[in-house]
Amino acid sequence: MTKVITLCTSKGGTSKTSIAASLLDYWNKKGLKVAGVDADPNCNLTRWLDKGSLKNIPHVAQTNEGEIISTVENISNERDLVIVDIAGFGNQSMVYAIGISSLVVIPSRPSEDDVLEALKTKQIVTNASKLTRREIPYKVVLTQVKAGTLVVEHSLKQFQAFNVPLFDTAIAFRTIYQTSRFSGETPITAEPQGKATKEIKALAKEIEVQLNL
Ligand SMILES: Nc1ncnc2c1ncn2[C@@H]1O[C@H](COP(=O)(O)OP(=O)(O)OP(=O)(O)O)[C@@H](O)[C@H]1O
Ligand SMILES: [Mg+2]
Repeated sequence: MTKVITLCTSKGGTSKTSIAASLLDYWNKKGLKVAGVDADPNCNLTRWLDKGSLKNIPHVAQTNEGEIISTVENISNERDLVIVDIAGFGNQSMVYAIGISSLVVIPSRPSEDDVLEALKTKQIVTNASKLTRREIPYKVVLTQVKAGTLVVEHSLKQFQAFNVPLFDTAIAFRTIYQTSRFSGETPITAEPQGKATKEIKALAKEIEVQLNL
């Protein structure tokens, strides 16, 4: 069975596309049959994966909300894993993609606004679980973290207070995410031994364990 991972939250700029591209690059290099689905009308993931060596990662853009489920189903054929990248505002594609997901990953920066939107996204997942009558697993990953800042502690406490599951791995703020994008790379290809790559690998490992990949 193909596993579907959706990266979503109703807040913009929280690293959804960066994590989607990095995980796709990592698992593709590891030999998994992956594919990306870009559900964002801005098509940021598509533009990124259309460059450099990332071109060999199968991917498709689907900005028609009503077509998102069939697009994921079609590209799932003979794939181990499909990653869906959602736009950073409330939209139907998010709900549909959550409904067919094996795991929903909710990236959140350590800020009050991001935490609130992550909590709203959690509620969408909970409602989608009720609609589909199956448990849809979800987890928050803290992103763009600047180590040692108090706001990280505040954000963690907020998520814990609302019983929101968190990945052990946090993704630090690192400029390699910005520079690698210009050159059609991800941190995985740009700095294979770098700290960003170590974090993406640790996140990937947690997901592999959760999904039995
Ligand atoms: N860990 C990080 N460290 C530093 N910069 C980052 C990191 N992750 C993402 N960025 C930068 O932050 C910006 C937003 O990242 P990204 O496009 O991945 O977020 P997004 O959630 O997909 O945004 P949108 O909601 O607009 O789709 C980009 O300029 C990206 O390069
Ligand atoms: Mg994006």
